[in-house]
Amino acid sequence: MQQTVRIAPSILSADFANLGEELRAIDAAGADYIHIDVMDGHFVPNLTIGPGVVAALRPHSELPFDVHLMISPVDDYIPAFAEAGADIITVHVEAGPHPHRSLQLIKSLGKRAGLSFNPGTPIGGVEHLLADLDLVLVMSVNPGFGGQSFIEGQLAKVRQLRQMIDATGRQIDLQIDGGINPGNAAGAVAAGADVLVAGTAGFAGGPENYAANIAALRHAA
Ligand code: DX5
Ligand code: ZN
Repeated sequence: MQQTVRIAPSILSADFANLGEELRAIDAAGADYIHIDVMDGHFVPNLTIGPGVVAALRPHSELPFDVHLMISPVDDYIPAFAEAGADIITVHVEAGPHPHRSLQLIKSLGKRAGLSFNPGTPIGGVEHLLADLDLVLVMSVNPGFGGQSFIEGQLAKVRQLRQMIDATGRQIDLQIDGGINPGNAAGAVAAGADVLVAGTAGFAGGPENYAANIAALRHAA
């Protein structure tokens, strides 16, 4: 069943020189999850945040840390992010070699497990993994950078996943990530998404705008 829409600002678009303050500000502004984009310079052409930064941020907010691992291979790094304070750990189905093993590892560490699909990756086969999933992430840009344009065609995947998730009867977050703004949020939610990641649209204009940014996404949705 589609749940209440939650907004997950991606700190990739925050001021990296003031991350603790940025986290407190976006939390106070009404965020539901803190989305943390971890990039390895190999699976994606960018380098961002490691477990040490996640651990340093942990005292600054009690919101769920939604850690999106763009790492391949990923399994060796999962325990460090669990230890650092992640609540949800999402891996990419393309990161290989055994997505189900990665999900089992995340669950064994007591964390919620997510699986992400790049724009060019079909979702066929995910039905075999849904029993172990707490979140499915549809990438609506190619991962690696904030500020890219939303790929409308990915909504077809969201629609399909909404049906597949509903058929399980389980509560599984259906998250969309990349290029989300108040202009396309309604379409994403109508397709079945219930967690909207927003980097640029969440952090636009600095801390005095965060509450309005989040409210605009929520109202649009
Ligand atoms: C892209 C990241 C996204 C990104 C979203 O690889 O996974 O979370 O930061 O940023 P915007 O909302 O600017 O597309
Ligand atoms: Zn992300």
